[in-house]
Amino acid sequence: MLNDKLHSYIEELISEREPLFIEMENYAKENKVPIMELVGIEALLQFLRMHDSKKILEVGTAIGYSALRMAEALPKASVVTIERDLERIQAAEEFMNRTKYGEQIFLIKGDALEVEELVRERAPYDAIFVDAAKGQYQKFFEIYSKYLSDDGIIITDNVLFKGLVTQSEIESKRIRNLVKKIDGFNRWLMNHSDYHTVILPVGDGIAISKKKR
Ligand SMILES: C[S@@+](CC[C@H](N)C(=O)[O-])C[C@H]1O[C@@H](n2cnc3c(N)ncnc32)[C@H](O)[C@@H]1O
Repeated sequence: MLNDKLHSYIEELISEREPLFIEMENYAKENKVPIMELVGIEALLQFLRMHDSKKILEVGTAIGYSALRMAEALPKASVVTIERDLERIQAAEEFMNRTKYGEQIFLIKGDALEVEELVRERAPYDAIFVDAAKGQYQKFFEIYSKYLSDDGIIITDNVLFKGLVTQSEIESKRIRNLVKKIDGFNRWLMNHSDYHTVILPVGDGIAISKKKR
């Protein structure tokens, strides 16, 4: 991971966001909603721009921050996003209704492990962004990679989990199990015969997977 000084330096250089996005960042902080951190989301948006993604599936909307930022960064793209938490769904809908970028977004309300049919109806996707329950990453990948177009990419967030993937002694059993799952997912993904994957130490660690031809 980047050291704190470098991280702050890069953050300082990131240009100011629209007032609504700043409001969402503050809302997330105040209400302890985990949204992508600044350097991480900038990297995600840049990959999506370079790839020229047109149809994006996001697993894990929270309050709609990353979905709206993707919609703003990629004016021609549409975003299908899944969230199961009712309070966050309500907040996401409120934020989406306040901006034109909301028109590019379709929110699926439900558990990502149970709404495959709704996702399939809108397939294919040329980019999939996985940012939901970390213990289920492999399942999300297995379910939704079926709906990825041939030139598609899958971006998975939090794969370095605050650096904990390198720590052998973790007191909390819950966190230890989670770290084990993330590590298992990373190894499974890096050895996946259908994908080229790179893990980058940006934000909380992102994996970028591209279908092999
Ligand atoms: C890290 S937050 C998403 C942040 C968002 N992508 C952003 O950066 O603005 C993860 C969200 O995924 C949701 N989530 C976790 N597991 C889920 C599942 N199985 N189905 C749907 N949503 C899920 C959580 O409720 C949480 O709001």
